[in-house]
Amino acid sequence: SKVHFYSWEISYQFKSPDCYKKLAVTINGETPGPTILAQQGDTIVVEVKNNLLTENVAIHWHGIRQIGTPWFDGTEGVTQCPIVPGDNFIYTFVVDRPGTYLYHAHYGMQRSAGLYGLIQVAVPDGFVEPFAYDDDRSIILNDWWHNSTYELATGLSSIPFVWVGEPQSLLINGRGKFNCPAAQPTSSCNATNPECSPFVLTVVPGKTYRLRIASVTSLSALNFEIEGHNLTVVEADGHYVKPFVVKNLNIYSGETYSVIFTANQDPSRNYWLAVNVVSRKPGTPTGTGILNYFPNHPNRPPPTTAPPASPPWNDTEYRFKQSVDARAHPNYVLPPPPTSDRTIILLNTQNMVDGHMKWSLNNVSFNLPHTPYLIAVKENLRHVFDQRPAPETYDYRNYDIYAKPKNPNATTGTPIYRLGFNTTVDVILQNAKMPGNSSSETHPWHLHGHDFWVLAHGHGKFDPERDPKRYNLVDPIMKNTVALHPFGWTALRFRADNPGVWLFHCHIEAHFSMGMGVVFAEGVDRVGKLPTSIMGCGESKNFLGSP
Ligand code: C2O
Ligand code: CU
Repeated sequence: SKVHFYSWEISYQFKSPDCYKKLAVTINGETPGPTILAQQGDTIVVEVKNNLLTENVAIHWHGIRQIGTPWFDGTEGVTQCPIVPGDNFIYTFVVDRPGTYLYHAHYGMQRSAGLYGLIQVAVPDGFVEPFAYDDDRSIILNDWWHNSTYELATGLSSIPFVWVGEPQSLLINGRGKFNCPAAQPTSSCNATNPECSPFVLTVVPGKTYRLRIASVTSLSALNFEIEGHNLTVVEADGHYVKPFVVKNLNIYSGETYSVIFTANQDPSRNYWLAVNVVSRKPGTPTGTGILNYFPNHPNRPPPTTAPPASPPWNDTEYRFKQSVDARAHPNYVLPPPPTSDRTIILLNTQNMVDGHMKWSLNNVSFNLPHTPYLIAVKENLRHVFDQRPAPETYDYRNYDIYAKPKNPNATTGTPIYRLGFNTTVDVILQNAKMPGNSSSETHPWHLHGHDFWVLAHGHGKFDPERDPKRYNLVDPIMKNTVALHPFGWTALRFRADNPGVWLFHCHIEAHFSMGMGVVFAEGVDRVGKLPTSIMGCGESKNFLGSP
């Protein structure tokens, strides 16, 4: 196995990814950042230099379990202190499983400012994957606002609450197209700026491609389509799935997929790549790129057809069906343990806390302590966070998920779930109605440090007596991020076998910043000596003195 060394300088730069100029957080001047390419078992070393001048940073390696290195998970407030301006920090970790993963900022709402990229881990030499292709390509999807991250975050925590609103653009590999007035281009909005020329995916007629698709959106659920080409889904979050064919793919923030497609259409023209917002009423134009059949010119002329529209944005059943159609590849994914040791039911509601709009789980809205949980739990700093156990369930017999939340008051807190080491844990995510309107949103939940089996998706209220009988214990997919559909529930199972402290949260950046997350701790007594590089904030200062 190899060691891959990266040196990244994080800085603000003026960028025009959708033709509109704004400040973006970049890695060595670029957004998206470089793709990390490695092979299973390799070691990745990333030296991060924070040149943001006035802003902290931390980088999370999304989908990498950090076995033996829980302190390099990059989750500010949970596994490390932030990297302060001017400081360097070195992440060192092993990519122990092949597949498609992400990295992104995990400090404040910085991900939406442009700090993100892909990690591709190849299979070991001689290993045969359950599908074949001629070439490997990748795209990373994002949504983009013209307001700064500070404006967005400040609005969310203000009284009265100011929602971030729908994004101005959707980006494919960091390129989109805002409708700048063509007649009067300005230096801040110029439709002919080459930085916002569409992303072009060039293919050779007759060849078959593996396309890795990842989403790091801050808000939007997306539907991705390649005009005229079916997609065969073969991988999800680094696990092989039983191949299934779709015309278009629903993808939620934090998810990755590999699809196979063949360039088998009329080669005399080009085709659209299209992303559309689903699940929320779209206020953002279709994001487009070009599927270019070699040797046509990439975008002269552009396709004369209209870019594909998504299925109706509010067709929840369409998306629900994709979730339940996905099955594990029988020869490559182990089935789950047949029973679990513990079930945690998490009711997802939006509530008011002291006049602030928050998301909460069983009426507790997540708050980060000043000392990262990993340090506090390992060093037994008992007054850093709430020692009472976090609530295991909610009053499901009496709670009506179709009614507006009856008790609009919740609390913010810092309790955690302590999981027995090597136990099997079920988590049931329960969706409900929002207070302000008649809807219920889609929440993509992401677990750090583990993959989980997706045992079931259901409609309505989860029944702890009846519904576990419907679990798929034969071929459930394994993932690290899964959708909780509107007015529905999702059941997960995982083994608490990775010593450390791990965040589990909604991957919508605005929702997490409004408190939509919980923390699991397991086997912390087995965690080795914490590196001093993660310390320095809150009470962890006290550990820096000793040699
Ligand atoms: Cu990709 Cu905690 O997130
Ligand atoms: Cu959410």
